[in-house]
Amino acid sequence: FWLRGESPPELVAFNPATKVWGVYGHAESLQVLNTPSVFSSEIQRKIAVDSRINVANLLQMDGMPHARLRKMVSRVFTPKSVVGLEPRIAELTGELLDRVCGRDKFDLVQELAYPLPLIVIAELLGVPSADRPLFQQWVDMMFRDHQEVSVAEGEQTPQEILGGAAEVLRYIGEHVAERRVRPREDLLTKLVETEVDGEHLTDAEVVNFGFVLLLAGYVTTTMLLGNAVLCLDAFPQWQAKARADRSMLPSVIEESLRMMPPFTALSRVTTEDVELGGKHIPADEVVMVWLAAANHDERAFADPYTFNPARDPNHHLSFGRGIHFCLGAPLARAEGRIALNLLLDRFPNLRTDPADVPTFRDIAIMTGIDRLPLLIGPS
Ligand code: HEM
Repeated sequence: FWLRGESPPELVAFNPATKVWGVYGHAESLQVLNTPSVFSSEIQRKIAVDSRINVANLLQMDGMPHARLRKMVSRVFTPKSVVGLEPRIAELTGELLDRVCGRDKFDLVQELAYPLPLIVIAELLGVPSADRPLFQQWVDMMFRDHQEVSVAEGEQTPQEILGGAAEVLRYIGEHVAERRVRPREDLLTKLVETEVDGEHLTDAEVVNFGFVLLLAGYVTTTMLLGNAVLCLDAFPQWQAKARADRSMLPSVIEESLRMMPPFTALSRVTTEDVELGGKHIPADEVVMVWLAAANHDERAFADPYTFNPARDPNHHLSFGRGIHFCLGAPLARAEGRIALNLLLDRFPNLRTDPADVPTFRDIAIMTGIDRLPLLIGPS
């Protein structure tokens, strides 16, 4: 939203230094996300991505191949299947919070927001609990303690990230092969078995989908949890209302997603010349849709810089739009609601520590807390 500081704000602008078009308006962002034939997600056509991590995945596919794969995985990864996970998410959240009981202070990210989404994805995939520390270690190599991996600027991708990704891909691959022989009650088995119009997913497609769940669904959910707690701390009147009426929590989550979208920006490549927000964009150009800016467009949101969970409608773009709309949105929303609910239940005096300020992750295309020390003792 700090990107939209000019008056009148630029809705679409070319940056000659990076040679990237920035889209900042809500309507203009919708036009991009809803026209995938012109604004393609096949970003690899324009930007070289290391082939070891650039596994063909939903996020970077278009047209019929995307529609086919999305239809097949959507059969298995349904909103209804997420409802079935809710008791387990509550149990896991309770166990994680048990560990901090008796302390005066804890880091929300370290103790809850970072471990919870990973355990949920690992259990979804059917990673046995004995393997979880190893799995966690590889995933940490991919996500923890790294600054931005700027493929757009052609920087060297750190070996550690690639090493972690390669191990995760290999591990999921072994499990997919095993599920063909010995089916279990898990998502991988269901993906292996799913049949749409007489077609099955290949092993590689199942592996890539499992990997995309981690790429798209892990750190984003960590950030959602941290950002939502930060918003409730910054706006105590809303914390008091949510404490008294827990049915408000879904709106609190939507509003914190609007204010602080975990994915700050999405990239696309133009397939033809196009007019957008009064600008002419040639074919074959990189376009960044700044969700954080669109979510603060005063043409779409009254008083956009005010945290107001009561806003209705709240048509933020934090889960994207169109054919790539986040497949994990029901899961992320459920985790957010369950975690906030338990935090409010357990800690009547939950608040940030004025002597120990939170830190943010330093990644341009993501907005989120990296460390959120919270006081839980008597105030
Ligand atoms: C796609 C955001 C959680 C799985 C997306 C997209 C966004 C997004 C913006 C669209 C990307 C694009 O258009 O290029 C988020 C946020 C989350 C979250 C903010 C948490 C607050 C999850 C979770 C999962 C997940 C928990 C699953 C475990 C996916 C998948 C896609 C996707 C598979 C690709 C859909 C497609 O390309 O058809 N997400 N996501 N996400 N997300 Fe999420």
